[in-house]
Amino acid sequence: MRKTVIAGNWKMHMTCASAKEFMETFLPLSKDLPLDRRVIIAPPFTAISSLATILEGTHINLSSQNVHWEDSGAFTAEISPSMLLEHNVRYAIVGHSEPRKYFSESDEQINLRAKSAQTHGLIPIVCVGESLEQRERGEAERVIRRQVEQGLEQTDLSNLVIAYEPIWAIGTGKTCEANEANRICGLIRQWAGFNDLLIQYGGSVKPGNIDEIMSMSDIDGVLVGGASLEPQNFARIANYQAR
Ligand code: 13P
Repeated sequence: MRKTVIAGNWKMHMTCASAKEFMETFLPLSKDLPLDRRVIIAPPFTAISSLATILEGTHINLSSQNVHWEDSGAFTAEISPSMLLEHNVRYAIVGHSEPRKYFSESDEQINLRAKSAQTHGLIPIVCVGESLEQRERGEAERVIRRQVEQGLEQTDLSNLVIAYEPIWAIGTGKTCEANEANRICGLIRQWAGFNDLLIQYGGSVKPGNIDEIMSMSDIDGVLVGGASLEPQNFARIANYQAR
């Protein structure tokens, strides 16, 4: 039985003060979750240290929003695995569509980040997904397959999460139809060739659609942006009711 992985990606939101305020509301609302649900928060780097203290002894895990493949060096604006491990970070998001788009991240770099995370004991959350233009041109499957095959090359699939995030569904309010998201997640599992691979869906996940999304057979969790910034909404998502 695959576990469930519910992650909130805070992107470039939340100061230390607002992160603390968030947890004051969120922690009591999420304390009775079933044991097979892993809940993860990926705050901006500046809030990691204070959240590590606040979350000590709770069931909430920390993720970074990036990780570099070198342990130290002249890499301005990057973060190394050991810097994250020092603060009890357990997961690292790599290959999100925003750095792919704004900073031209390649599948090769994403693969290096994922492998480095694993080597150091972090669990990478590798994001893949097509743009609207690629979907309209009928290229979605080819694009995602390339991202999966190159991004996951030489990684340990039993120690990794894949997030399928169609770019056209991110921050737009347009969720990918649950059956279609499930179909793509099933293909990803097939291409990866590992039945126990953990696969999340991401893109406009909210309290109103979480129950349907989590009732899909190939979707093992969600990667949530906007709705993870509001503690009641994210708690409702973490407390989803599978149909
Ligand atoms: P939204 O939930 O705001 O659409 O963002 C999804 C996302 O990019 C999570 O990584």
